Amino acid sequence: MARINEHYQKLQAGYLFPEIGRRVAAFQASEPDADVIRLGIGDVTLPLAPAVVEALQRAVGELATAEGFRGYGPDQGYPFLVEAILEHDYRARGVAIDADEIFVSDGSKQDSGNIQEIFAADSTVVVTDPVYPVYVDTNVMAGRSGAADDAGRYAGIRYLAASEANGFAPGPPDEPVDLAYLCSPNNPTGAVMSREVLAAWVAWARESDAVILFDAAYDAFVQDPALPRSIYEIEGARECAIEMRSFSKRAGFTGLRCAYTVVPRACAGRTAAGERVALHGLWARRQSTKYNGVPYPVQRAAEATFSEEGRKQTGEQVAYYMGNARRLREGLGTAGLGVFGGEHAPYIWLRTPGGLSSWDCFDRLLGGAHVVGTPGSGFGPAGEGYFRLSAFNDRARVDEAIARIQRLGAAGW
Ligand code: MLT
Repeated sequence: MARINEHYQKLQAGYLFPEIGRRVAAFQASEPDADVIRLGIGDVTLPLAPAVVEALQRAVGELATAEGFRGYGPDQGYPFLVEAILEHDYRARGVAIDADEIFVSDGSKQDSGNIQEIFAADSTVVVTDPVYPVYVDTNVMAGRSGAADDAGRYAGIRYLAASEANGFAPGPPDEPVDLAYLCSPNNPTGAVMSREVLAAWVAWARESDAVILFDAAYDAFVQDPALPRSIYEIEGARECAIEMRSFSKRAGFTGLRCAYTVVPRACAGRTAAGERVALHGLWARRQSTKYNGVPYPVQRAAEATFSEEGRKQTGEQVAYYMGNARRLREGLGTAGLGVFGGEHAPYIWLRTPGGLSSWDCFDRLLGGAHVVGTPGSGFGPAGEGYFRLSAFNDRARVDEAIARIQRLGAAGW
């Protein structure tokens, strides 16, 4: 009989969002008339921008012709998209990246989950806590941890608490670790790393020969131009960091699927014998073996987000969601809740009222206000006592959710 990968059995319950989905479905089955407002999973709600739709349709039309038909695309993405990425995401901010350092893909979830495959099975891993569950779960699946304790902390994985005291942006550990996952703007706390904190991480990684896996999927939500959007804005990061970015949240591509990962040629790991090896070649080999790329029309659609019209239209979408975030911050703050995040990210991080546990708060909001959020403890032990609300929804629904939560608070939770 085939033996299973027993590391999967260490994983906690289900993946967070399907678990929430199950609980909401059970609630709706018991209260079918309840008008439930979903501010849980961070999924976009606005329709695709006109410039994106036009590019998609044009590209599909091309595929319908003998001259325009295309089969497999280039391994790392079409040059038209790679060039647009380089121009707008990097050169515009004074960052030099080479075209062949970009790997176009169908999502940062996949890339941040798959990247660990190119590192040794006994690599040590550090995450900030609370954390996007993908970073931890994929390392557990790969056998880089022991069992989880009662709080959900896996043995062998280093957790750095992101707390109110450090502005939810902890600095590097005081010991060498092989791989560090960072996410800024952060999912779930909505905090953003300052240039100083990020520079401290880069200095630590260079000193301890670690690799930083930097998830910048929410870069477009940064409102202050002085804050870093890319880790490569920090001197020396090309030698120690891999960066992931996505069109999902910045341009409404959660259904279309397009993202990219940057693996600079200067970024290296080493063999057991101590030989330095560029990570670029390993990731290129991994991707060309297991992946055939993003569909041509979707890459054209992603390219269109960088046109003048595309930037304007997707910028308006980001501004709309950030308007929701501002309303949530203000509305829930006046209801007496401890409110964090939401200034440079589409997530609001709340201290649960009255000392409720994260899941009790979930049940209270769902049962009492018919609002779905995400329990902070689902993102890691340090998320206990916190709760995440997403700003991705219709403005009127967000306002309605705020009013309902205020009423619940006035009634004493
Ligand atoms: C979330 O709600 O945390 C996001 O939707 C996760 C994701 O982008 O995969």
